[in-house]
Order: sequence, then C-alpha cells, then structure tokens
Amino acid sequence: MKFASLILLILGGIIDSLSAERNEVVGSADSVFAFAGEDVILPCLVKPNISVVDMKVEWFRLDQEYSVVHLYEDHVDRNTEQIQSYKGRTELNHQQLQTGNASLRLSAVKVSDEGRYKCFIQSSSWSDDTTIDFKVEAVGNPPVITVDGFDRSGGLHLLCESEGWYPEPDLEWLDSKGVRLSPESTETQRNTDRFSVKHTFTVHQRDGKIHCRVRVRHHMLEALISSTSNMYLYWRTSVIVISVVIVIAGILISVAVFKYREHRRLQHENSRMKSEHRRLQHENSRMKSVINHLRKLMVNVTLDADSAHPDLIVSEDGKQVKYRNREDKGNNRLNEYLGVVGKEGFSSGCFYFEVQVKGKTVWDLGVTRESADRKYLTSLSPKNGYWTLSQRHGNYRASSVTLSPSVEPQRVGVFVDYKKGLVSFYGVESMFHIYSYTDQSFNRKLYPFVCLGYYLSFDFSPLIICDGTNEESE
Ligand SMILES: *[C@@H]1O[C@H](CO)[C@@H](O)[C@H](O)[C@H]1NC(C)=O
Ligand SMILES: *[C@@H]1O[C@H](CO)[C@@H](O)[C@H](O)[C@H]1NC(C)=O
Repeated sequence: MKFASLILLILGGIIDSLSAERNEVVGSADSVFAFAGEDVILPCLVKPNISVVDMKVEWFRLDQEYSVVHLYEDHVDRNTEQIQSYKGRTELNHQQLQTGNASLRLSAVKVSDEGRYKCFIQSSSWSDDTTIDFKVEAVGNPPVITVDGFDRSGGLHLLCESEGWYPEPDLEWLDSKGVRLSPESTETQRNTDRFSVKHTFTVHQRDGKIHCRVRVRHHMLEALISSTSNMYLYWRTSVIVISVVIVIAGILISVAVFKYREHRRLQHENSRMKSEHRRLQHENSRMKSVINHLRKLMVNVTLDADSAHPDLIVSEDGKQVKYRNREDKGNNRLNEYLGVVGKEGFSSGCFYFEVQVKGKTVWDLGVTRESADRKYLTSLSPKNGYWTLSQRHGNYRASSVTLSPSVEPQRVGVFVDYKKGLVSFYGVESMFHIYSYTDQSFNRKLYPFVCLGYYLSFDFSPLIICDGTNEESE
C-alpha cells in the first residue's frame, strides 16, 4: 500500500513537471459576436495559467495576410506595424497578463473588424496560438413603409425600406395574422460595409394591418401600416388629380432651378479648374527640375546578398530582391523584417537612388546606419538606425509618422544629404515629394536598405533597384 502511494506521488511529480510544457493557448470555440459601436473582449488564455508578462503576445488577422492587430513584446505594446483601422482601439490588460490572460479589448467595433484573428503567445522555449472567429452585427434604421400609389384593380402599392444593416438582413411582409406574404420585388444594396433593403408589395384586402419586418442574426425591427376602406375611396378620387397637378408643377420648377444651378456650378468649376491646372503645371515643372537634379547624384546600388534575410533571394546582379517561397513557414522567423542592404556605404556628400515598387503593397526602403542591428528584429526607426518609408497595403508611414500621399508612388527616389542630416523620399513617376527626415545627425556610414516588410509575404514579385541601365521606357 505504501509502495503504491509512493509511486503515485512520483507519478504526480512527473506530471506536474511536464505540465509546464503542456500549457496551451485557448480562445473561444464558438464565434464571438459584437454589435457595431460596442466594445468587445476577444478571449485568449493560457491554460493552465502562467504569467505571460515576459512573453510576446501577438494578435493578428488571419484573413489579411498576417497583419498586426496588436503586439506586446519586451514588456510594452509595440504597435508601429498595426493595421491603420485598429489605431487606438486595441488594449491588452497588463495586469491580466500575469494570470495568463492575453484577451484583447477592442473598442468601438466596426463592421470591417469582422474576421478571423490569431492570438499568438511566445516565450523563449514555448509558443502556441489560437484562432478566434469574430462576427459583427450592425442594426440599421427602423424600416419605413411608404404608400407608393395604387393600381387599377384597387391594390395599394407599399414600399418598405431600411438601411444600415450588417450582415445582409432578411426583410419580410406579414399580414395581421402573422402569415408571410411574398414580396413583388426585392432590392438589396451594399454601401461601403452596410446593407440597405427595399421590398415592394401590393395589398388587396380593404381592412387590415401589414407588417414589414427586417432582421439580422440577433436583432429585428418592424414597421406597421393599417389600411381602411375609406383610405381607398379618398385616394381614388383626389390623390390622382392632385398628384398629376403637383407632379407637373414640380417638374417645371425643378427643371428651371436645376438649369440655373448647373450653369452657376459649371462657371465656378471652370475657373477653379483653370487655376488648379496652372498651379499643378507650375508645381510639376518645379518637381521635374528637382528630380532631374537629384538624378545627377544617382549612385550605383548593388544589394549585398550576404546581408539579406534568409527568406530572401537577391538576383545575381544585385539589382532585385524577392521573397523565397519556403515550405517550412515556422514560427521562428515570424516577426523579422525581410531586409537587405546595399554593398556600398556613404559617409559624406549627397547621394540618390531609385527603387521600383510598382504593384507591391508591402515594402520598406531608405537608408540604414553601418552599425544598426542586421538581424532585422528591431523596429525601423532613426533610433535604431533606419530612416525608411514604408507601405502596408495602402497605408504609408515614415517611422511613426502616418502619411497619405495623393498618388501611389510607382518608383521611389531616396535622396540623402549626409552633412545636412537629410533623408528625402520622392514619388518619381508622379513627381512629388513624399516625406523628409530633417536635422538628423549621421556619424557612421549610411547604406541603402530595402525590405519586403514584416512576416511571411504572399507577394513573390521583386523590388527592383533602378539605376538608369534597367530603366523602363516611359
Ligand atoms: C481576461 O481579461 C479581460 C480584460 O482584458 C477580462 O474582461 C476577462 O474577464 C478576463 N478573463 C478571465 C478568465 O479572467
Ligand atoms: C491561476 O489561477 C488561480 C485560480 O484562478 C489563481 O489562484 C492563481 O494565482 C493563478 N496563477 C497564476 C500564476 O496567476
């Protein structure tokens, strides 16, 4: 008996020590629901619970090419790579991290937040993740029933409309006994991310109530119209006559007003366009001469394959870099920048180079300091020795500054004035200035730097260094 309990005790000890390795990340097996505008907690817990304060916690969208929703690392939130639309709306409760709770609070939920999320937790010796399916529901405006006229047989035409729903709602007509009536025509429209519905129905019974009901998964709104025989009589005699008169008068007035307004608008528009055109012409010729001047400072950049992230392939001539399609997309390299630097560095004067980014939606480019961390783990900022311009799916940024260029650059020119501490970025094809880092102080050599972003990319087209010899004809 004693022997048996000893064995049990030892077994218990072994199981305990193994369980540290057996922590798993759990979320929610069922979809999480929220209404647009509300706050929601997306659950993510380590079971059995251990503190994740010293670990990395990463929330990202699975349905959007591994885009970051929230990142906690080295004890702080690092949201420089965060998707723009989540800015200021995500929060990890640092107190709760101590008990293995990495649930994400998402405030003022938007319809576009609907999707599949991954909560990924990683320590030096362990990592696990869970997937959460998040569904959003938006309740629209109450439906409105309009009497739209009536037909020769005496039927009333009804129109029921409601807008602002998500997902697509069901609209149904019911009579006073709750029996479903089939609509004559149905129409659904999607504006940005909400749905509007419009159904028509003709009532023939003389007395009664008709309901129009609109509903999504958890919500329903209803409108009601009652009709009486008197209504039909009244309408038949007067409405038609009055409405014909009103319609004719209305058409005459609106045609006159419209013509006048249109004339004024066109005049105004015309003079505005003329001055805008002059301004643009002037601006354009100024930028053209700036860029032509910069091009005289163009240096021959060759990428250094030895400095490239292992997931990248640098072409033999050192002019192109692309993502290597690796089978083993392990977690180990999940959050490194896919960067590469030029072979030659510069420690004086001015230099300029151009990179073709046409068609690519994820990239970083610019210059980096000689001694900067080349493991590509740090964030790209002047503090870490990177002066870059970045694009993430249409969002542009220079370090922590969000930019909104009016045109998507196809080819980016990078100009550096070492002594002045200036790094400027230009959209070469459309000739405009994108951004400048000014008053920087450089004390090491600067190297050209290009990068295919962060995370695994699904875009296998290359970034190309343009140096005049591989110029695309324009
Ligand atoms: C986890 O933390 C969130 C707040 O971030 C809290 O609302 C939730 O109740 C916590 N869950 C558990 C199981 O403690
Ligand atoms: C784990 O949860 C239990 C019960 O909820 C709590 O008493 C304990 O302090 C937690 N452990 C850690 C490491 O937070």
